[in-house]
Amino acid sequence: MSEAKLVVKEKGPILVSGDFTLCDDKGNNIDTQGKATIALCACGLTENGPFCDGKHKQAQ
Ligand code: FES
Repeated sequence: MSEAKLVVKEKGPILVSGDFTLCDDKGNNIDTQGKATIALCACGLTENGPFCDGKHKQAQ
């Protein structure tokens, strides 16, 4: 696996790829297996948290 890479998209999500573990605020792992890259919501509008569902486009 490769080092984790985070890309902050302007007015959009944070793209995460590489070797990482995603946890909720209680420390429980969130399943991301099978996904080479995930998009974390950075706008707070998603209905599929913590993942981006494209709703940030409505705020632009
Ligand atoms: S960043 Fe895409 S829905 Fe929030």
